[in-house]
Amino acid sequence: MTLDLAIILPTLNERGNLGPLVERIDRAIGTAAVWEVIIVDDDSKDGTADEARVLALIDPRVRVIQRIGRRGLASAAIEGFCATAAPYVAVMDADHQHDPALLPGMLTALKSGEAEICVASRFAEGASTAEWAAPEREKLSTYANALARKITGVELSDPMSGYFMLPAATARALVPRLSGIGFKILLDLLATADAPMTVKEFPLNFAARREGESKLDRAILFDFLAGLYDKTLGKVIPTRFALFGTVGAFGVLVHFVVLSVLLFALGERFAIAQTAAVLVAMSFNFWLNNWLTYRDKRLVGAVALLRGWLGFIATCAIGAFANVAIATFMEGSGIHWVLAALAGIVVGSVWNYALSSRFVWGR
Ligand code: GDD
Ligand code: MN
Repeated sequence: MTLDLAIILPTLNERGNLGPLVERIDRAIGTAAVWEVIIVDDDSKDGTADEARVLALIDPRVRVIQRIGRRGLASAAIEGFCATAAPYVAVMDADHQHDPALLPGMLTALKSGEAEICVASRFAEGASTAEWAAPEREKLSTYANALARKITGVELSDPMSGYFMLPAATARALVPRLSGIGFKILLDLLATADAPMTVKEFPLNFAARREGESKLDRAILFDFLAGLYDKTLGKVIPTRFALFGTVGAFGVLVHFVVLSVLLFALGERFAIAQTAAVLVAMSFNFWLNNWLTYRDKRLVGAVALLRGWLGFIATCAIGAFANVAIATFMEGSGIHWVLAALAGIVVGSVWNYALSSRFVWGR
């Protein structure tokens, strides 16, 4: 009997959910396949990785990857693809929202060549969701699906599904070309494949989360726009950097609004007004980047936010210094002031982006 299937469970604070889930997976698969579970934990504060190790001691089919200093659902799934010898890989939520009973059917469909990828769908005929008002979701998903069809060339009722299975070799072959900004790993895999993949959908009864809370928000439209950009212009200017730059442009706007209000209120005290405007704009940028640019790695909780905010301000202060230094030097060597200023802005932005992605949202 050789290994058939690796079930990848990305986890962030799912301690209490793991044991019962492994039991459910075992029961659902029975003797239909030889499996392993790969828990990819991003150093959860609730001790999920330790709990995973306890499970692995009892049952060697459970494996643990604990990542320290890294975050992200998509990159956790990729980590799993690359860590197994199993010919097939599945990704599912660790919170019991995804019914493991679908696993044997998915595996059969892949083995028989009926499909190149199997997707559990909350919106396929016969599916149901316990989580939110279905009509509203269904309407949203109509637009989402049309867009997804454009990007992937595949007809899907639930392109945002987080529960799917495919051959491990296919997944690994696509990994080098996946977007850095993988909010939606399934969509990304489908969009990156050279030819549209044949998909088999499995109706899913999407259960309520068993314990803990959701880590993702539901800005579906945003995910799609980001995905669309990534597959087109993203090759020229990386999506995350484009977001960062857009946020920065809004920051300039905020800066001028605050500056004009303060100048009006304070009269002649330009230096004070400018300093306040810089601080407000930086804080605004920090907040918006945390919400949009790094929504897959969002900092939450007072301590993390305070640390992130301070780090961001320190980063931007150095970036601003570099900006001024380079622009002044260029202008001094006879380059047109507009070009010099632009060069300063580009260097400052790249600096801010590089450092904040590493030190503010890197862990
Ligand atoms: N390693 C790791 N790192 N795991 C993470 C991270 C992360 O940064 N963020 C979330 N997870 C884990 C969670 O612990 C859970 O097991 C799984 O990934 C999905 O996260 P949830 O927080 O349960 O997401 P959800 O239920 O709101 O979203 C689900 O539905 C979406 C469709 O609306 C997921 O299945 C999504 O993939 C899906 O797109
Ligand atoms: Mn979930």
